[in-house]
Amino acid sequence: MALTRIHHIGIAVHDADKTAEVWRDTFGLETALDMELESQGVRGVIFPLDNCEIELLQPTRGETGIAKYLETNGEGFHHICFESTDVATDLIAAKESGMRMIDEEPRVGLTGMIGFIHPRSNHGVLIEYAQPPDDAPQHSGPTSGPGPHALHHMTMAVNDIAPVQSEWTERYRLTPGRYLESEALGLEAQFLGLGPTDIELVRPLPGSGGPLPRKLETSGEGMFMLALTVRDAGASVAYLRGQGWTVTDANAGGFISPKHTHGARLRLSEA
Ligand code: CO
Repeated sequence: MALTRIHHIGIAVHDADKTAEVWRDTFGLETALDMELESQGVRGVIFPLDNCEIELLQPTRGETGIAKYLETNGEGFHHICFESTDVATDLIAAKESGMRMIDEEPRVGLTGMIGFIHPRSNHGVLIEYAQPPDDAPQHSGPTSGPGPHALHHMTMAVNDIAPVQSEWTERYRLTPGRYLESEALGLEAQFLGLGPTDIELVRPLPGSGGPLPRKLETSGEGMFMLALTVRDAGASVAYLRGQGWTVTDANAGGFISPKHTHGARLRLSEA
């Protein structure tokens, strides 16, 4: 197993130009790549952060995986990609451990040689492994401004923390970190580290309301929210509110409704 970090977060969108208005124009991220994979009927647009990338995926014709995904689920988080130093070996290991594979062998993707593992084997999360080429250019997020410059953590909604934690620490070599239970937020949370960023597993406390239990009821376990690092949360919240965005719970950094971002639920936090 040679997974080193979260390489990117994939987001399915109807129109990457529209969604670029969020990541490029509002947040100030650079476009590092904008290309169509003709054979797969998908256009990918990549926006780098300091420690991770955002990958927008837009179908360029019907009947493709992304087109079907959008029909069923609408716009939003599509997959999480772990960087691998040896994707062929890691895919074999995943298959041998009993996971349901989409790709048993690496194929060419937007970010090097890649392969996907089925969400049914991963609590609703579609997982990609990617081995970027050795000469892949190094990018970073914006060096100033109110937009996010790094990934803080990716939050997954789960029905029960313990089984996911034990599976994923073993399978992906994640390191258990902080655990918290918050009556105020109505959830319990377990952080799992991989390289410079974390995955956070969250479960709603019984009787709590809001978007987290609603997500589990309507679409089951899976990717829920992306927490992004900003330099000055107060300034970022003020800036986004100035753009007409609703940002709630500013004391905690600020929560951004998916209605402003074409389906991606975001949270801002200072490092
Ligand atoms: Co990807």
